[in-house]
Amino acid sequence: MKPCSTTRRPDDMKILFSAARIRRRLDRLAEEIAHHVSNRELIIVAILKGSYVFLADLSRSLARQDIHVIVDFLGISSYGSGTTSSGKVRIRHDLSIPLKGKPVLLLDDILDTGLTLRHATDLLRRRGAHNIRTCVLLDKPARRRIPIEADHVGFTVADTFVVGYGLDYNNRYRHLPHIAELRAGSKPAVRTGT
Ligand code: XMP
Repeated sequence: MKPCSTTRRPDDMKILFSAARIRRRLDRLAEEIAHHVSNRELIIVAILKGSYVFLADLSRSLARQDIHVIVDFLGISSYGSGTTSSGKVRIRHDLSIPLKGKPVLLLDDILDTGLTLRHATDLLRRRGAHNIRTCVLLDKPARRRIPIEADHVGFTVADTFVVGYGLDYNNRYRHLPHIAELRAGSKPAVRTGT
């Protein structure tokens, strides 16, 4: 039998967080988040595309905490040339549900320079959301360009390029059940920011 492509791993990758470790951490995160939910209902706005796996698993962990989740998506990306960001962001997919007066949990895969989270938070505020909390699976503080922190963080990582569990390199590796570091030699010249 051929090896399953879900678990096959190129040699130039090092696993940082296994699927089991991510699962355990998400259950703790859901407990943390549940403390801040007042009426057992929570709107989650997930930033596309990288947070889709995180969203799926976290919403099931929240359901085990008796939190009912309503989901919406925001497609947003920072762009620039090479590895430096211009600091500009573009909305590629807008929200589809009204947020006025609602508490919202904003979810992203990774907090890097901070531009995406800052822009998304400002957008939710302009749309009338109140009590916006933020949650990222990964935090890469070494690359921060603006002062912003997430309210809930899964794991902190060093300044390396990571893939798997929704995170991609040129739209590849999103399906991996773990989070892995893409090692030197295969590091991308351009950060995709999606
Ligand atoms: P900023 O810089 O705005 O960027 O905080 C957040 C977005 O940048 C992408 N990003 C990565 N994607 N591996 C990835 O697959 C990484 O190591 C990485 N670092 C940043 C990601 O799309 C995130 O939403």
